[in-house]
Amino acid sequence: MTEHFRRTLIARASQPYRAAGFFAWNFAKGKLKGDPAFFGLLAHGLIPDAKRLMDLGCGQGLLASWLLEARTLYESGNWPAQWPAAPKIESIWGLELMSKDVERARAALGTRAEFALGDICRTDFCTSDVVVILDVLHYISYEAQEDVLRRIRASLPAGGTFITRIGDSAGGLPFHYSNWVDRAVFFLRGHRVNRIYCRTLEDWLGIISRNGFTVMQLPMHRGTPFCNIMLIAKAI
Ligand SMILES: C[S@@+](CC[C@H](N)C(=O)[O-])C[C@H]1O[C@@H](n2cnc3c(N)ncnc32)[C@H](O)[C@@H]1O
Repeated sequence: MTEHFRRTLIARASQPYRAAGFFAWNFAKGKLKGDPAFFGLLAHGLIPDAKRLMDLGCGQGLLASWLLEARTLYESGNWPAQWPAAPKIESIWGLELMSKDVERARAALGTRAEFALGDICRTDFCTSDVVVILDVLHYISYEAQEDVLRRIRASLPAGGTFITRIGDSAGGLPFHYSNWVDRAVFFLRGHRVNRIYCRTLEDWLGIISRNGFTVMQLPMHRGTPFCNIMLIAKAI
C-alpha cells in the first residue's frame, strides 16, 4: 500500500463527517489513521461480500464509511495490487447506544447506511451475512455477552461471518494500557464508566466456539502500545 493510497482512503472515509461537525470529522480522521483495525480488515480480506452487514456498537458509523469508500476506490481501479478485493456490501445496519453518535452517523452517511439507537442487549438483530463488533463486548455483563453471541449466531446463516476485536486480559501491561485509554475515551464521549467485563483470549475463544462458531485469531495492534486481537468466526 502506498502512502498516497493510505491518505486517500482516510480522507475519503472521513470527509462525510464534515457534515456532522468539527468533532466528528476530526475524530474520524484520528481514529481511521491511528487504529490498525480498519486497514487490517481490508488488507487481510476479513469481510466477505454481503447482502447485509450488521455493526453492533457502531459508534459514529466509521466502519460503514470505511467499507463504502473502500469499495468505491476498488471499483475505480485505485486499489493496492496485493490486497484482496474490497467487499461489496449491499446494506449496512449499525446499532449504537449513544444518541449523539447515531446523529453523527446519520448526518455523515445519510441513506448510504442505516443506523439505529439501541442497546445490543435489548434490541432485536436483523438477519445478516456478516456481523462486526469492534471493542464493545467488554462493556456488557458476562451473562449478556453469552446471550448476545447466541443471538448473533441466530442472525447468521451457516458459513456467515462474525468478527470481533477483544483485549486479552492475560496480555499484561499492554492490556492494562488498552483498557485505561479505552475507559478514558469512553468517559470523554459522555458514558458513565461502570465495570467492564474482560476475559482472557482463551476464554473469548471458548465462549464464541460454544455459541456455534469456529474461530481464528489475528493480532491487530501493530504500531500501537495496545493488546487487541481480532477474532474471525464462521457460523457452523
Ligand atoms: C470503543 S467504542 C467502538 C466504536 C466502534 N465499534 C468503532 O470501532 O469505531 C464502543 C462503542 O460501543 C457502544 N456501546 C457500548 N455498550 C453498548 C450497548 N450495550 N449497546 C450498544 N452500543 C454500545 C458505545 O457507545 C461506543 O460507541
